[in-house]
Amino acid sequence: MTSDRFDGLFEQCLQDAQRHRLRRSMRVFEHVAPGRVVHEGREILNFCSNDYLGLARHPQLVARACAYARRAGTGATASRLVCGTSPSCTAIEARIARAKGTQAALLLSSGWQANVAILPALLRVLGRDAQVYVDRLAHASIHLGCRAAGIREIRFRHNDLDHLESLLRARAGRPGRRIVVTESVFSMDGDRCDVAALTDLTQRHEAFLYLDEAHATGVLGPDGMGLSSLGGGRVDLAMGTFSKALGGFGAYVAGSRALCDYLANACSGFVHTTALPPAVLGAIDAALDLVPGMHDEREALADRADGLRTMLQSMGLDTGASNTQIIPVLVGDEHRALALSRALDARSVLVAAIRPPTVPRGTSRLRIALSAAHSCADIEALACALSEALDTGT
Ligand SMILES: Cc1ncc(COP(=O)(O)O)c(C=O)c1O
Repeated sequence: MTSDRFDGLFEQCLQDAQRHRLRRSMRVFEHVAPGRVVHEGREILNFCSNDYLGLARHPQLVARACAYARRAGTGATASRLVCGTSPSCTAIEARIARAKGTQAALLLSSGWQANVAILPALLRVLGRDAQVYVDRLAHASIHLGCRAAGIREIRFRHNDLDHLESLLRARAGRPGRRIVVTESVFSMDGDRCDVAALTDLTQRHEAFLYLDEAHATGVLGPDGMGLSSLGGGRVDLAMGTFSKALGGFGAYVAGSRALCDYLANACSGFVHTTALPPAVLGAIDAALDLVPGMHDEREALADRADGLRTMLQSMGLDTGASNTQIIPVLVGDEHRALALSRALDARSVLVAAIRPPTVPRGTSRLRIALSAAHSCADIEALACALSEALDTGT
């Protein structure tokens, strides 16, 4: 028996979304190989996944995940503070801290959960009157973390450090500590923030710097461990995910020992949740073995991204300020983005149409996510399909 007493409310919302062509639905895809999915028997080139290094099906990750599950079971069974922490968790934290050049690191359940849970814990200690400066294009989980903390964000224009500085200056005499929250690589735009200049700025204004490295981890920086090192040890908190280039699941925070110990005590999303399961830890451990040595894959990924951007720009398309493996094709109108995505799908190429509220109104786009597993022929097939879709006036 199902209770459907409140379905009228849910259906109303869905109809509203449908009317604005913003209703989303899930399709069933079988992931058969990096960069490829199968839908109803049809093989499709996949440019939607964040599996930037093609690690999500890597035999070493799969084998280590199986070995950890065989040894320790399928579930962690409780919070690490309640049941004791597994040695695998502490070993991975030590590896992350070494790789990030920080005193300590702490594992969390996912990148989304990390942002939503850490920001309220941080703001509890930085003070209710803290001034929180956030890049306006930051990920939804960052904005949600600020809302969960009950503070009002001060948003600065995307990657505009002059604007950020003018906002900081304008509030110079006011009480309250300052915190700046941004990303090293932006998930929907594929551009980077200038971490070195940003850390100079946050030092000058005595602001705490919170850097989300979800899309840089594995791909950019020394040994692919993100861009926080460009801050010369002055990024106060770097978080990153294992769910994208590292082909697994979960997230980390890297920072001082005091910060990580504080979060382990005060962050509800750490204290009140079950630890990551053994298989996930196994996959992370194997990815951390592989990623530092994947220089050729990172170089190939960067070269292919440059090549694709050049092709797209020569077709008159706007790729914004992208300079990473994430390449938006900005079309503006959400209906046009959706129509182009469907036209590509009909040509067996999967590229997501990203629409409001994920991106601001009027900036709908196709979001192309490249993987080192894509061949040059795959990328040419994408450009060719896009050119045909545009020619048919989609
Ligand atoms: C910038 C950024 N932070 C955090 C997340 C959430 O990470 P996860 O998928 O591990 O929950 C995402 C996911 O897309 C992201 O783009």
